[in-house]
Amino acid sequence: MPENPARRSVRSYVLRQGRTTPSQQRALDELLPRFGISFSDFFLNMKEIFQRMAPVVLEIGSGMGETTAEIAHTNPQTDFIAIEVHGPGVGSLLKKIEFLELKNLRVIRHDAVEVLEQMIPEGTLAGIHLFFPDPWPKKRHHKRRLVQPPFAALAARKLAPGGTFHAATDWPEYATQIDEIFSSNSLFEKQMQDRKGRPVTKFERRGIGLGHPVRDLLFLRRKK
Ligand SMILES: C[S@@+](CC[C@H](N)C(=O)[O-])C[C@H]1O[C@@H](n2cnc3c(N)ncnc32)[C@H](O)[C@@H]1O
Repeated sequence: MPENPARRSVRSYVLRQGRTTPSQQRALDELLPRFGISFSDFFLNMKEIFQRMAPVVLEIGSGMGETTAEIAHTNPQTDFIAIEVHGPGVGSLLKKIEFLELKNLRVIRHDAVEVLEQMIPEGTLAGIHLFFPDPWPKKRHHKRRLVQPPFAALAARKLAPGGTFHAATDWPEYATQIDEIFSSNSLFEKQMQDRKGRPVTKFERRGIGLGHPVRDLLFLRRKK
């Protein structure tokens, strides 16, 4: 049963104020109308957005967007939709889209669960990327973690058969949780853990600096 977003009160993020630099603000003002997609409760028409039919990969929580832009730049045959709620991060990614003249990357500034539920047609995504989601380490905050059984069910509905869910985290206990939840959903088949050419992200660099072990988890959406 799809969750009713209107009743969803626990979210996986807290909107931090954080400083928006003048150039990020310019990007939000001038580039979001060009490279952004507004949140709506209509399914997206990918052909209209990207002016072609190509595999579409959705990234949840693109942060400052370096890795997102790099992946899109090196995979021109695939289209990407990045979702992020943090304004400075969205501004920073928009600047990269402009600089690299990326035609295969668009941004949605909104809660990823609502975007998945309401904007992504069923069975259409070639991939979902979730790189270094907020680990919410305190036990009383675990309910804020994005990856819970209903999230795996939602991902299964939106991925095309043969599509992949790729997560990475430097928080071992969250890695175990992701592994257990996706492994126990019969619509997913665990793949050999591999970073699949994933470039290092900003958060990953920070984690490595702190000596955290990084783990990638890859699950294939079964054909049925
Ligand atoms: C720890 S950061 C990692 C950013 C980036 N992936 C990286 O590895 O550098 C997690 C990001 O996910 C975003 N985020 C968390 N939950 C989200 C949600 N439900 N919808 C959209 N963005 C979300 C946060 O705003 C934050 O920028």
